[in-house]
Amino acid sequence: MTFLSPTTSLLQQARVLLVGSGRMGHIRAKAIFSNPRFDFAGIVDDNVDGAKKLADVYRTPHFSSLSDAIHHYSSTPLHGIIISTPTPTHEPLITEAASANLSIFTEKPVDETSSSVKEIFNTIRAHNVSLCCGFQRRFDPSYLSLFNTIRSGGIGTPLTASIFFGDHPVPSRQFLLQGGGNIISDCSAHDVDYIRWVLGDDVKSVYAVGTSSDEELGKAGVIDNATVVLNFQKGTVVTLTLSRGANYGYDQRCEVFGTAGMASVKNITESSTEVSNATGIHRPKWQHSFPQRFEVAFGQELDAFADTLLLKKPWPVSESDCVAVQKVCDAALESCESGQVVNLFA
Ligand SMILES: NC(=O)c1ccc[n+]([C@@H]2O[C@H](COP(=O)([O-])OP(=O)(O)OC[C@H]3O[C@@H](n4cnc5c(N)ncnc54)[C@H](O)[C@@H]3O)[C@@H](O)[C@H]2O)c1
Repeated sequence: MTFLSPTTSLLQQARVLLVGSGRMGHIRAKAIFSNPRFDFAGIVDDNVDGAKKLADVYRTPHFSSLSDAIHHYSSTPLHGIIISTPTPTHEPLITEAASANLSIFTEKPVDETSSSVKEIFNTIRAHNVSLCCGFQRRFDPSYLSLFNTIRSGGIGTPLTASIFFGDHPVPSRQFLLQGGGNIISDCSAHDVDYIRWVLGDDVKSVYAVGTSSDEELGKAGVIDNATVVLNFQKGTVVTLTLSRGANYGYDQRCEVFGTAGMASVKNITESSTEVSNATGIHRPKWQHSFPQRFEVAFGQELDAFADTLLLKKPWPVSESDCVAVQKVCDAALESCESGQVVNLFA
């Protein structure tokens, strides 16, 4: 009788660290802990209280720096790291993790400009590890189903797309005024990545207009409402409208119109309860924000990272995707400032 080679020689669990115990850190910690394919090795945050509080929930160690955590595991191999810290901190953390031979999942965007994204991928290549950037729409059941519909010809040839990103809750003044505020820099990458993926095409030119909804934001140069028009090489025209002011719930919609029909992703309500009475038909609000709307997608996304670590599956968002997305976001910011169309393939 022939026996198959024992599966115990295959790695079944990836030992991973999480860096960041803020908004995304909370979401990632839950997803790591809930997935039996991960061995949760600890949480790193320079805010030690934040790291400890979150680490205690998941019965995992906490560290005040990545170097401490890597040193702690010098005799037990670590396999990967999940970076959920503010974007300006990604580059040094990615470089340190790559030098320690760890494959990396990072929150979007990899970095703030397309040239720095390129440089980071060059560093990664030299260390022969993976750099996986999170764009969770690719793992969301509704957005995935829209992708499959369009790719299988369900609406013919896409002619136009109309996307709305309504942020909720409206971020604090402090967040808006201290660096994170510009809605193009903060939020547009998600839909730019998604629609490039759906259309299988690259953006030819970008035109964008941004406004500030009050005087204080205007004086500080913070754009909190914007419309970005993307002309794709095969001729599809995409309008992406972004706003911080969706005070009625997290409003994320995408509608693609083609030669043989139209397909769209709609919002999801907090529950499916509906009350009909003499004043009308009353439905619950849209889901509160990104942790609720993309909970399933965030879990699927980290499971795909486990595939990369354990099965060596390539990450679906490539280096060229990350660079191209960032080029479009850079161009949208440039267009807002200059009032001109920016050609990406001049
Ligand atoms: N995918 C999404 O929908 C989504 C949503 C929000 C934010 N993001 C991205 O996630 C990242 C984090 O955003 P957030 O809103 O969770 O931030 P946050 O401010 O809520 O949390 C960041 C945490 O990182 C810690 N930190 C900062 N620098 C550090 C360092 N050098 N080493 C260790 N810890 C450090 C801070 O103390 C804080 O606890 C950003 O890149 C952002 O663009 C993605």
